[in-house]
Amino acid sequence: MRVTMIGTGYVGLVSGACFSEFGHDVVCIDKDALKIEALNGGEIPIFEPGLDDLVSRNVAEGRLSFSLELKQAVAESDAVFIAVGTPSRRGDGHADLSYVYAAAEEVADALDGHTVVVTKSTVPVGTGRKVREIVSERLAATGSTATFDIASNPEFLREGSAIEDFMRPNRVVVGCDGEAGRDIMRRLYRPLSLRETPILFADIETAELIKYAANAFLATKITFINEIADLCEKTGGDVQAVAHGIGLDNRIGSKFLHPGPGYGGSCFPKDTRALLATGQEAGVELSIVAAVENANRRRKQAMAERIIGACGGDVMGKTIAVLGLTFKPNTDDMRDSPSLDIVPALIAAGATVRGYDPEGMDEAAALLPGMVFCEDAYDAMTGADAVVVLTEWNQFRALDLNRTKELLKAPLMVDLRNVYDPDEMAQAGFVYHSIGRRSS
Ligand SMILES: NC(=O)c1ccc[n+]([C@@H]2O[C@H](COP(=O)([O-])OP(=O)(O)OC[C@H]3O[C@@H](n4cnc5c(N)ncnc54)[C@H](O)[C@@H]3O)[C@@H](O)[C@H]2O)c1
Repeated sequence: MRVTMIGTGYVGLVSGACFSEFGHDVVCIDKDALKIEALNGGEIPIFEPGLDDLVSRNVAEGRLSFSLELKQAVAESDAVFIAVGTPSRRGDGHADLSYVYAAAEEVADALDGHTVVVTKSTVPVGTGRKVREIVSERLAATGSTATFDIASNPEFLREGSAIEDFMRPNRVVVGCDGEAGRDIMRRLYRPLSLRETPILFADIETAELIKYAANAFLATKITFINEIADLCEKTGGDVQAVAHGIGLDNRIGSKFLHPGPGYGGSCFPKDTRALLATGQEAGVELSIVAAVENANRRRKQAMAERIIGACGGDVMGKTIAVLGLTFKPNTDDMRDSPSLDIVPALIAAGATVRGYDPEGMDEAAALLPGMVFCEDAYDAMTGADAVVVLTEWNQFRALDLNRTKELLKAPLMVDLRNVYDPDEMAQAGFVYHSIGRRSS
């Protein structure tokens, strides 16, 4: 099958490369000339484990290419995916759909024959219907004889394990309004259905809602365990053991019960806000999602207070080493990362912050002015009054504790990801604070 992927970001590039790995012919389009130039020069503009090999193999085998020009690719395609960004609109939290609609217009002008136009971007319920209107109107205005079906195929991949998630998903969701479109989608995902991956067909509105409901539910789990962690800190009890104890119940499940500094990233914060905006427009109170969004926002802000408290209540003139800046390990994505709340608050309180991240430094440079960017974890800790583990990259899980103690002015660690064991840290001579467990 021939596929055009519009938007070559985290989702578009991974999805495009994976579809080509399935054996389809894929052209990935982007407006960003630097991105396309880099890709055509064999460079991957984002950090995603395994993506460089996957892309270079499929490019070499002639199934994957990159272009700024969508016209020819769209005209020759069976399926055109829109995988552009849908960031929060300033002010009202609604998803900004301007990129989706602009892409839909361009696609309409290039359609030829029969094509399924698929939104892979996360878009509020009703967007598919609007895309259909846009395409129909453009076709009528230009007198085009092209025909099309609309589909919604939300993406559930996680940055850091995106290829595995695309290749072995729990399920694929397809909302589609035409039999020809459904047939194309079935054929596109055939390598997965052969492996018995459930392919769920639904109407477009249902598919759009599944994506938001899934993200809001996962955000709720994280926020729930974070509040239980707060309770453990006040009452005694170990949140890790509580999470294990409840997670063994099949009705609850163990995933997404890791306490931390609050969820961030390119999806949960904006998607919960967008779902709330949809609820408001529809006159439906989504009080649980509202509470989650509010609690998570307050939590990220409260984390700086927690670090300042661990430093004796005042960080004026102190130096704090921050290990990890991205919202999670194995990505360079800084969008809505907790570091964007915590680091500026520490700097505002008078601290010097020395930060290091294995992959996020380039992105962070523009977002965290005033932070000192360091060579590695040990460089960041040199002469610092405390070290904060903010993102659980593997290389921060096994720090040389003797060296850490020697480099720090005082052996003080605030571990916002619970990667160390309180007893071991006490034995190693650290004052150790973590989430939802006693301090040592
Ligand atoms: N990042 C994730 O982990 C993830 C997971 C699931 C779903 N999603 C959703 O997928 C969508 C894309 O997310 P992302 O993280 O890949 O975004 P991104 O910002 O990394 O990539 C979007 C790309 O689209 C390009 N673009 C914008 N308008 C264009 C146009 N008219 N023509 C061609 N290219 C255009 C941009 O230049 C950019 O490269 C969003 O709706 C997001 O919510 C993201």
